[in-house]
Amino acid sequence: MSRDPLIALRPWESPEVTSWGRLPMNAVDRRTGALPLDGEWRFQLLPTPGSPVTEAWSSQHVPGAWTVQGTDDLPQYTNVTMPWGEFPPASPAANPTGVYEREVDVPAEWAGRRVVLRVGAAESVLLVHVNGRPTGISKDSHLAAEFDLSDVVRPGERATVRLTVVKWSDASHLEDQDHWWHGGITRSVLLYATDPLHLADVTVRARPDGGLRVDCRVRHAMGRLPGGWYVTGELAGHLLAQDAEFDRLNAQDERVSDFLGEARLTALVREVRPWTAETPELYELTVRLHRADGSVADTAHPRVGFRQVEIRGRDLLVNGERVYIRGVNRHDFHPLTGRTVSYDDMRADLVTLKRFGFNAIRTAHYPNDPALLDLADELGFYVVDEADIESHDHAHEIADDPRYTAAFVDRVSRMVLRDKNHPSVIVWSLGNESDYGANHDAAAGWVRRHDPTRPLQYEGAAKLGWADPTVASDIACPMYAPVEDCVAHALSGEQTKPLIQCEYSHAMGNSNGTLADHWAAIESTPGLQGGFIWEFWDHGILQRVNDGRPAGRAGAGLYDNGVAAQGHRWAYGGDFGETVHDGAFIADGVVFPDRTPKPVMYEHREIAAPVRLAYDGGDLRISNHQHFRGLEWLAASWELSLAEGGTLTAPAGLPDVRAGESAVVPMPFALPEDGGEAWLTLRVTTADDEAWAPRGTEVCVPRVRLRAAAPVASAPLTTGAPVQVDEDGLLVHPLLTAAPVLSLWRAPTDNDEIGGMAARWRAWGLDALERKVVDVRRAAGSVTVVAEYGTMAGAVRHEQVFTRVEGGVRVEETAELPAGLDDVARVGSVFETVAGLDVLEWYGQGPWESYPDRSGGAPVGHHSRPVDELFTPYLRPQESGGRHGVRRFTLSAPDATGFAVELDEPRQVNVTRYRAADLAAATHHDELVPRPGCVVHLDVAHRGLGTASCGPDTSPGHLVPTGTHRWSWTLRVL
Ligand code: GAL
Ligand code: MG
Repeated sequence: MSRDPLIALRPWESPEVTSWGRLPMNAVDRRTGALPLDGEWRFQLLPTPGSPVTEAWSSQHVPGAWTVQGTDDLPQYTNVTMPWGEFPPASPAANPTGVYEREVDVPAEWAGRRVVLRVGAAESVLLVHVNGRPTGISKDSHLAAEFDLSDVVRPGERATVRLTVVKWSDASHLEDQDHWWHGGITRSVLLYATDPLHLADVTVRARPDGGLRVDCRVRHAMGRLPGGWYVTGELAGHLLAQDAEFDRLNAQDERVSDFLGEARLTALVREVRPWTAETPELYELTVRLHRADGSVADTAHPRVGFRQVEIRGRDLLVNGERVYIRGVNRHDFHPLTGRTVSYDDMRADLVTLKRFGFNAIRTAHYPNDPALLDLADELGFYVVDEADIESHDHAHEIADDPRYTAAFVDRVSRMVLRDKNHPSVIVWSLGNESDYGANHDAAAGWVRRHDPTRPLQYEGAAKLGWADPTVASDIACPMYAPVEDCVAHALSGEQTKPLIQCEYSHAMGNSNGTLADHWAAIESTPGLQGGFIWEFWDHGILQRVNDGRPAGRAGAGLYDNGVAAQGHRWAYGGDFGETVHDGAFIADGVVFPDRTPKPVMYEHREIAAPVRLAYDGGDLRISNHQHFRGLEWLAASWELSLAEGGTLTAPAGLPDVRAGESAVVPMPFALPEDGGEAWLTLRVTTADDEAWAPRGTEVCVPRVRLRAAAPVASAPLTTGAPVQVDEDGLLVHPLLTAAPVLSLWRAPTDNDEIGGMAARWRAWGLDALERKVVDVRRAAGSVTVVAEYGTMAGAVRHEQVFTRVEGGVRVEETAELPAGLDDVARVGSVFETVAGLDVLEWYGQGPWESYPDRSGGAPVGHHSRPVDELFTPYLRPQESGGRHGVRRFTLSAPDATGFAVELDEPRQVNVTRYRAADLAAATHHDELVPRPGCVVHLDVAHRGLGTASCGPDTSPGHLVPTGTHRWSWTLRVL
């Protein structure tokens, strides 16, 4: 047995031990003036915590996970399942343990000061030795731990710091979140010093009426406080007053002992600019702790946002306004470092979200780096701050296990203590997917007493009854509730709490169908206030294909536009040789692993548009759809797009309307008599530089249809060369390498696979349809071909009438789906073209990918894109790159040769380099081999995407009906 007490006591098997020697959490930022200890540390990975440390050192970068830095302990992805079978509180005997060691020169000028070590985050148990002396223990992989080293190190001398990180523990059972398992020190390490007399904590409360209250806790490193200390404060030129009444009461009831000092400062700040996510106004506060002689012993600089959160009835109010929560769930993730996220990366995450209309974040499922909250304060986000508790696999056993009570309270209370001064944090969350038990109520009790200024939520409690007043959730915060259920609840008369889904619209692969339906309901139903999309990231780790190793930091720059460079791929579950894993379920975000936005982001941006446009045939109206801001920060221009006449532009002035108001504006164009279908788009951009967007950044593109299309009439030509159809009834055309045939299948999306549709389609045989020609009838100028496609649910009759028309051929098609084929992927034609036709120009929705139930973000207009850029590289290849509402298109070569297709009605069109079968056969993007020509789908019906990988499927209106489908199109050579 080890003689080291930190090892001998086996704290990794004792849930009761949440820490030892650790300082209480507080909200005083000590980063300025600290000695950073990030960089290379000596390192060795032991097979178990008890294994002897040897002389065989390698090195690791701190902060960083060893799982992506060259060790043999690689990342593993599991969702619910624990990666090993031991029951809580046990952990496996084989337990990778990283020993990090380095020397630290403690500055001589720190003589006489209190010296503190801070380890930003270590998973899952941290053991600290300094100069060989056992110094501390900490658990919670997503919160910092501080240790007072004043008695262990000597200023002016060199100290040896050893941080031992045990990967698996009793605490792993509380950290069973759905993401990669890693090991290591994932946030920064530093050393700082304070005067022995110091601010132990500062709590700020600032209301939008300018009321400011600052509570200070004062301690001395030696225990006993010297007499005569006092605090002062200053904010934007206002001096804060020490609250004498508070001091008197404290003295009277002996709440202040001689080792804990408490003081309260107050002020009423006039004409305060309140903080909201739209107007993230921050003030610098300075708090000084003075010795009796007036000299300053310690200073804190919290930034203050004046705002108030409350629940009134069933509304969550920020500064009295019922705000919509346009949220996303964000994990700490990076494709190279796994879990370690730099300040710049965190900022880039938030900037991306801001640019796509998000105003809220749930820190799924643990407290994020404190810098993320600083950025949320600055850029303007509402944050649901979530504690690091998810016991998913053993939720029920743990929720009431008294051995874990301390851990629950520890995790929740430390988060609150750390983050309470951030205006961005508007709600505390007790954690995720951990059932509901006494341990939650214990933690909830702590929060409610300590911070009555914010509501509390917990999905596991809320699901016992959305309106139940007895459960530990002030918000009804379900996950993946069908929108109809939410509406029904809001209309039931039973609703007592705001309904804000903590997770909805699962973004796995090509997904987020019906997002607009959610928002139509939210914006029209009092009681519904929004939700948090699951999730921000596709957690693909950049992996070298040759040796299967994570690329690590050497992979910087080896990806672009959502795609990994040659020889690399985005790894998901199972790719590191794990036998227990949950595959591509980890790739379920609205951005790719390199933060490239997926098409759904444009859908979201439009749903969240701060400016809306309405046209009722007479008046054209612009409305301000924000909660607080005017439109003065935005600029705009008009675009009139005519189906038969190109695009006209004109400058636009935005009316001076307050939040929630609207104004009629003059029609910017006289609509030409001809020109066909006409759409008016307002292109809205930032008028000035914003913290999250330079001037001119597109914010939204609301649009209205001014005139509908006239029906397309194309006169058949009975003269000229006959349509060429071969003996199999297949159209012969010089630009087509495969003639148009019927298609009923798409490469299954993740939703199709997990939702069970794909299995049904395969069982029916839709993935390999057999075509049998039944009849070929030739007449002057036209040929009729009847074919039958066999499926296990009955045959599909497909008729094509090919008619010679001016400059090309017209194809009229009919497909009859038998009753058994009641939910197919698509009904339409598919054909393939010769190589060289590399640019698609279309009139329809675009420019980005859109599908029938995810098309609101794509304005109708004239669009153009290289074929290679139409495809969206979802991590697990699947149906991708579709464009909704396409009226016509051309596919052309650089010399302008090619062909044009005119559709009878707006249709779903897909032009790619891949057959559906190519996509379905590949597991990762790097396996795909683009075909030289194009594969073209024209669909009369295309199934919605839904979100069935986790949550509701598409709406019934977006399923492909059985019975007769008719469509027609004309193909003309350019
Ligand atoms: C939720 C869970 C998330 C994630 C999601 C599916 O149930 O809270 O952590 O697992 O489902 O991607
Ligand atoms: Mg889970």
